[in-house]
Amino acid sequence: MDSEHSVIQRFKNNGQGHVFGFWDELGDGERSNLLAQTEEIGLGEITHLYETLIRNPGDSLIDMSELKPAPFIKLEKSPGEEVIWTEAKLAGEEALRSGEVAAFTVAGGQGTRLGFDGPKGTFPVTPVLRHSLFQVFAEKLRAAEANYHCLIPWFIMTSHANHEAIEAFFSDHGFFGLKPEQVHFFRQGRMPAVDHDGRILLESKSSVAMSPDGHGGSLRALVRSGAIDTMEKAGIKVISYFQVDNPLVHCVDAAFIGFHLLRGSEMSSRMIPKAYSDEKLGHFCYENGKLVVIEYSDMPTALISRMDADGQLTFRAGSIAIHVLSTAFARRLGDGGSGIVLPFHRADKKVVTIDEDGNSVAPGAANGIKFEMFVFDALPFAKNPIVVETSRIDEFSPVKNAEGVDSPRTCQEDQLRQIARWLHVAGVSIETDETGLPSIGIEVSPLFGYDEDTFVRSWQMLDPKPRIVDGLVLK
Ligand code: UD1
Repeated sequence: MDSEHSVIQRFKNNGQGHVFGFWDELGDGERSNLLAQTEEIGLGEITHLYETLIRNPGDSLIDMSELKPAPFIKLEKSPGEEVIWTEAKLAGEEALRSGEVAAFTVAGGQGTRLGFDGPKGTFPVTPVLRHSLFQVFAEKLRAAEANYHCLIPWFIMTSHANHEAIEAFFSDHGFFGLKPEQVHFFRQGRMPAVDHDGRILLESKSSVAMSPDGHGGSLRALVRSGAIDTMEKAGIKVISYFQVDNPLVHCVDAAFIGFHLLRGSEMSSRMIPKAYSDEKLGHFCYENGKLVVIEYSDMPTALISRMDADGQLTFRAGSIAIHVLSTAFARRLGDGGSGIVLPFHRADKKVVTIDEDGNSVAPGAANGIKFEMFVFDALPFAKNPIVVETSRIDEFSPVKNAEGVDSPRTCQEDQLRQIARWLHVAGVSIETDETGLPSIGIEVSPLFGYDEDTFVRSWQMLDPKPRIVDGLVLK
């Protein structure tokens, strides 16, 4: 009772007493639900965010006039550069063989744009068998484990909304052949949505409108959940981070990991050249000597479309949200002990809430503000951060929208084109259109081949070779 009283008083003192406005009407279960939620909320933090992001938004923390394009390690190798890629691959393979690498997927997003009723990782993404994103990643990890004779623990950050559904999905599918004890699920933190006056929004009389605190919340969630302790105990030195939406990702890429290690980097990122100026990717830039990512929505139009003399976009280094972090760096940023706190960004959204009488209101326009942290905001705090180019056609085709760009259809087509290219390298030509898209459906499990080399190796060992027909599955 005392603690109830002190929580309610704390909210009143901070001008948020309305959160308990229906307290007298609530049953015991509803009261404890509301209390549990409100205990998660840092009222000082909310006041600070209101002051700095809503009341006096001021200028961006980034000085746009100081932005320069970030340098990156190029994929196209000049003769002398072959050797640095080979050395990097060897160093990454050594780390994998030594069991020092964990995979980390951020899967706590709400996936609203896709309009899929379920956690995004359970979305059926492959062209023939309609395997889920999670299955694709699991098979890539199993294939890498077989290749490097190692165990790769897999950490998956969920949200309060999708945690149980994701755990059940893995359990229903036998963890896709992984050992259950190597897959670690943990929930990310939440933040309350507020209105334009900084008042916390209620979703119902007994619940606050809470939403995930962004993928940048992954660093503190790694620490708070104990996941980072598990990593350290297992001798993990390198965390291979990727989003849940991209089935082409190399979940653990030896050369990328090797560059990270050889350059003494604490956080490294993958990039691709942007396809066109308005492509919705973050931009790798240098600001006052620090590596930063400027989100597409924050970058001034003049910079987005600026061209070099050779006709290329000046700020062409696009972020595909694939990073490698050292475990020590993740701990340092996640526990806040270093005094470094990732900034929050505001997102104006439609938030389902209640009116003064407690009736539910579905807003027609953005009525609330959500707060999110972005993991790439950790880059300027990292020692020796590096950016390494990768090939778009081989590593990036996300599922973000229900239709159009970055949709299930474009993603399936990109998977099919990749298989056609691999078959071509293996000496088998199949009919494709001018974009390289085959006219038939073929699926290759990552267990058969997860990149060109492993595919060609497996294909050469097939005896007899299968006929290439619609619906062919290679596993
Ligand atoms: C993101 C990046 C963008 C990058 C692009 C590449 C941001 C703000 N932008 O855009 O720079 O070029 O991907 O595809 O990230 N997630 C959580 N918890 C959250 C929010 C998100 O786990 O609270 C996860 C999602 O499950 C997903 C990933 O983070 O795996 C990306 O989230 P999303 O909001 O879809 O980012 P994008 O706008 O697509």
